[in-house]
Amino acid sequence: MAQRDTLRLAAVGDLHCTRHAPGPLQPLFTQVAEQADVLLLCGDLVDYGLPEEARLLGKELAALKLPVLAVLGNHEFESDQTEEVQQILCDAGVVLLDGDAYEVRGVGFAGVKGFGGGFGRAALQPWGEAIIKRFVHEAIDEALKLESALAKLRTPQRIALLHYSPIEATVRGEPPEIFAFLGSSRLEEPLNRYPVEAVFHGHAHHGCLEGQTSGGIPVYNVALPLLRRSFPDRPPFRLLEVPLPTPAELETSISHP
Ligand SMILES: [Fe+2]
Ligand SMILES: [Fe+2]
Repeated sequence: MAQRDTLRLAAVGDLHCTRHAPGPLQPLFTQVAEQADVLLLCGDLVDYGLPEEARLLGKELAALKLPVLAVLGNHEFESDQTEEVQQILCDAGVVLLDGDAYEVRGVGFAGVKGFGGGFGRAALQPWGEAIIKRFVHEAIDEALKLESALAKLRTPQRIALLHYSPIEATVRGEPPEIFAFLGSSRLEEPLNRYPVEAVFHGHAHHGCLEGQTSGGIPVYNVALPLLRRSFPDRPPFRLLEVPLPTPAELETSISHP
């Protein structure tokens, strides 16, 4: 029986490209080009959110000649130049997902940065001071953006990209005191409502590689420092092969821009 075609995804986050050194990232991009059809970047693309960092990274990514889909991380906001950083990356061909849906060869992608707030019973609630309510509403807004992106996809296979974690399991290994700043279980709700094939996130450099949502969806922490430590002899990205839709499935999948 003929094997079904697949789309090979390489996922990694937390490149933290500095203005001095895109150099260490070059071997990674070479290996991505050899092994994958699409590169997924899970935020903290640059280190201080500076345009010059984005220009260096953009140059490397443009040379890749692969579709590159990305979400922003908290580091892209550090220098208050987020819009310029985004524009530079878009000009380099990077598809930035901020509550958006995107398709590559009939496989659907939904992405959002996400936010903190904590997990399960320890999740921060919108109660008391206005600033606490704003903090919680930021996470709720990000979850709603993710939900609306997922709702737009009619593809048989869907992949979610985040920077912050939607579950506690993949941040374990970090100090428990900072769990609340590493993700929010509010992001998990849409992932269970609109089932996806896999979820990739970064941000928790000292977390765990894998977990799953309460609905059983695999969640992969692809923070580069974690991958480098965990697999010193392997290319530092998570490779996932997703089956391409059949012609019949393609006909029934309607794109909603
Ligand atoms: Fe990071
Ligand atoms: Fe981060």
